[in-house]
Amino acid sequence: MAKVKKGVDWETFGKLRGSEKRAYFTRDGNIFHVIMSQQFDRKFLDEICALATKVRGISKGNKGVLFLQSLLQGKRAMLYFVQPSTRTFLSFMAACQILGIHCSEVRDTSTSSEMKGESQEDTVRTFSSYVDLVVMRHYEAGFAERIAFLLNQTSRPVPVINAGSGKDQHPTQALLDIYTLHRSFENYGGIDGKRIAFVGDLKRGRTVRSLVYLLRNYEGVKLYFVAPQELQMGDDLKQYLREQKVRFEETDNLEEVVSSVDAVYMTRIQDEYDEAGESKHIDYSAYRFKKEYLKILPPNTIIMHPLPRREEIPVEIDDDKRAMYWRQVRNGMWVRVTLIATIFRKDKDIKEY
Ligand code: CP
Repeated sequence: MAKVKKGVDWETFGKLRGSEKRAYFTRDGNIFHVIMSQQFDRKFLDEICALATKVRGISKGNKGVLFLQSLLQGKRAMLYFVQPSTRTFLSFMAACQILGIHCSEVRDTSTSSEMKGESQEDTVRTFSSYVDLVVMRHYEAGFAERIAFLLNQTSRPVPVINAGSGKDQHPTQALLDIYTLHRSFENYGGIDGKRIAFVGDLKRGRTVRSLVYLLRNYEGVKLYFVAPQELQMGDDLKQYLREQKVRFEETDNLEEVVSSVDAVYMTRIQDEYDEAGESKHIDYSAYRFKKEYLKILPPNTIIMHPLPRREEIPVEIDDDKRAMYWRQVRNGMWVRVTLIATIFRKDKDIKEY
């Protein structure tokens, strides 16, 4: 791969820490590419939460809807989703529509020139010539990062948003999760000092990894990793937390944790990453939120899930006021509207509306 304008080659870039890569994801100090959670700081998170709430308010009236639609009229986005998605794809599509952006999509590469041997890099570079924004979900960790790096070297770089990259990161899910936590704890001292449990396949769950990276921005949080030994949180992230002085505990006892935390973040088993069906042998039943846990769950503790779910949360729990996963879905759309508007520097217009 050729050199970037900023004088760093791909190999050198790859060795940088997440926080050191931030400069390559910004333009003139403003966010440009959205690739990994380590690029965000507390100031940005506070601003995105406040702005998302403002956007929600604006969207409640016809005048506000037209204002939002006028913000990015004439812009075009490509949704390149070559790994399955329901929520992320549709919420990005809706977010673009809310802002007046026209969307194109590639979801099935069997109809693209990749079938004739074109590399994925050339494919993305081709469609980036037709649009102003690329949103991509990919099965390979680091793919969105590589594309952002590649486009940085072109004469017409466009922003790249990582909408989920392999087992690695899902930064926009993490932003909507932060927004959900922010709203839930608005009247209870905010996210600072909260105890948050992550349950299930933590080894391969990119939503958990991205959210954990963001939570280092909050004072005094304590994290609980509740998982079978084989699916416990990766050593890289645990090392990161030690360096950042974020407290965490590992356990396999969900019942004990449920009664003492402020948020329980459930996840499904990520068996799409099995190479030889290895997770079929893991007993996941202890990592389901049982209906009887509602009795021991503190009154202000929330239940989260990035979805899709399988049996980790029975549907009978959906009506409990502490169940936040359907709100997460809706929050995702508003956070993505806010994020795209901020990338295109329309945040000031929204603030002044
Ligand atoms: N939470 C999430 O990423 O859902 P999808 O895979 O349906 O987009």
